[in-house]
This record gives sequence, C-alpha cells and structure tokens, in this order.
Amino acid sequence: MTLHYRCPICSTPLTEQNKTLRCDHNHQFDVAKEGYVNLLPVQFKNSRQPGDNLDMVQARRAFFATQHYQFLQTHLAHTISAMPCASVIDLGCGEGFYTQAIASALPETSQVFGVDISKPAIRYAAKRYPQVHFSVASIKDAPFTAGQADVLLSVFAPVFAEEMARLLKPEGHLLVVSPGPKHLYELKQHIYDDVRLHDAPDCPPGFVEVEQLHLEQTQQVATDIVKHLIKMTPFAWKFKESHYQTLEQAPDHQVTFSFLVTCYQKA
Ligand SMILES: C[S@@+](CC[C@H](N)C(=O)[O-])C[C@H]1O[C@@H](n2cnc3c(N)ncnc32)[C@H](O)[C@@H]1O
Ligand SMILES: [Zn+2]
Repeated sequence: MTLHYRCPICSTPLTEQNKTLRCDHNHQFDVAKEGYVNLLPVQFKNSRQPGDNLDMVQARRAFFATQHYQFLQTHLAHTISAMPCASVIDLGCGEGFYTQAIASALPETSQVFGVDISKPAIRYAAKRYPQVHFSVASIKDAPFTAGQADVLLSVFAPVFAEEMARLLKPEGHLLVVSPGPKHLYELKQHIYDDVRLHDAPDCPPGFVEVEQLHLEQTQQVATDIVKHLIKMTPFAWKFKESHYQTLEQAPDHQVTFSFLVTCYQKA
C-alpha cells in the first residue's frame, strides 16, 4: 500500500487532481508553485509564523553547505537505503538536508516525504529537491493515513511518540537522531562554567530500542561558519556580543559534532 496524505481537518484521505489535494468532504489544498502542499490550516496555527524562522533556516543552510555534517547525512542515507523501504517520512525535516540525501539513495519507486511546520524551510526544500514530497504541517498531527510508513526519521526535531506509532507499519523502523554527550562541547565552554554532557534520549513510549550508534567527529570550523552554527542551536540566545568578539580572535575553532542515532521498533 502506498502512503497517502490525509486531510488535516476531517482526517479522510486526500487525492490529487490538477495540482489540488481534495478529501471526500471537499476540503481543498493547493500545491504551491514550488511543489509543496500546505496542510496547516490557519485555524491550527499557534502563531503567525510557527517553526523555525527565515533567519534560522538561512543559518542552517549556510552551515550545511560546508558539509561539516556530511558524515551524518551519509550515514542516514546508507542506513535507510539498506532497510526495506518503500516509504519514508522525515518528521521536522527543516530544509531537507537529510531528506534529499535519503531520496537520492533509494530507488525511484520509493516515496520520500518531508514535513515541517516552518513554511520558509519547506519552501526552500521544495524548490531544490523535487524528488521529495514536502508539506507544511504539524508532526503532532501528521497529515498521513495510518500504518503506511516503513521508516520514520526524526533529526533534532520534537518526538511525538503516539503519532509516530500511528504512522509506522507494524514492522517499520523509527530512527531518532539526538545530540551525543559532547555535541558542540567547545562552543558551550564559551558560555557555561560547567558544561553538562547530553544524556541519552528516553525510549519513546510504545517503542523498543533496537540499536544505538554514536557518531562523533571533531573538526576545525571557520569562525564565520561557527557563527551560523551557533544560530542553529538552542543556546544561541546566550551568545552575547563579547562571546562573538572572543570567537573572532581566531580564524577557526575546534568543534565536536556528536550524534546518537537510535533505531526503534513498535513494542
Ligand atoms: C532543529 S530543527 C531540525 C531540522 C532538520 N531535521 C535538520 O536536522 O536539519 C527542528 C525542526 O522541527 C520543526 N518543528 C518544530 N515543531 C514542529 C511541529 N510541531 N511540527 C512540524 N515541525 C516542527 C522546526 O520548524 C524545525 O525545522
Ligand atoms: Zn477533509
């Protein structure tokens, strides 16, 4: 069975005709010129601009363009392409850095979806990666029919376990990427006297852990790129002008990139 979008208003399946997705109750959603579909009705928005804003999206793009995270991207594409995988959903996909690599590694017959609540991120993704089906939607109430995804991916995005269990096939896999113990340790030393290491993530309720891999590299990162990287982090607001001035005294910085890639299946 193929994976289908469902209506965010009445939850019945959507079918596409002439660049419009329509449900049995005649709720309609147009495919934007960039190729994505907006499945976040205005009445479901908590703010005018939910999710990551354009500034954060641009910082992330500038950082990703440097390929410092390529080792994670390659690992995810390789791991997912080795799984039985007709349908993948990247939940909270941002601008599609990982989604695109996964789509390229899979046969053309596979369906790859990327969902994010941030319109600037999805517009960017859809313009560049036409082989992925992108939508603006909440992953708390994801716009897909139940039990049809072979693989769900969540990279540094919120985890809604119940919704993930609804989306996944009984034998499907959930891959969650979370920060490893020393992720960005050197940058945190600028702002915290006592840097706390990241804990391993809790197993999402309704799932069992199958495997966990720790990927870590320490790389030299140019100061301009470090500034983009900081903007992508939850501690960006702690970086004051004086911290940036200290960073600017060196042309580059050593930074540890540490990721836990945890694979789960439904319990
Ligand atoms: C740290 S970013 C990670 C983006 C991408 N996975 C990556 O690693 O490049 C978290 C993403 O989750 C999205 N997000 C947060 N809450 C969401 C929700 N309820 N529904 C969909 N996306 C959400 C944000 O807009 C943002 O793009
Ligand atoms: Zn409907």
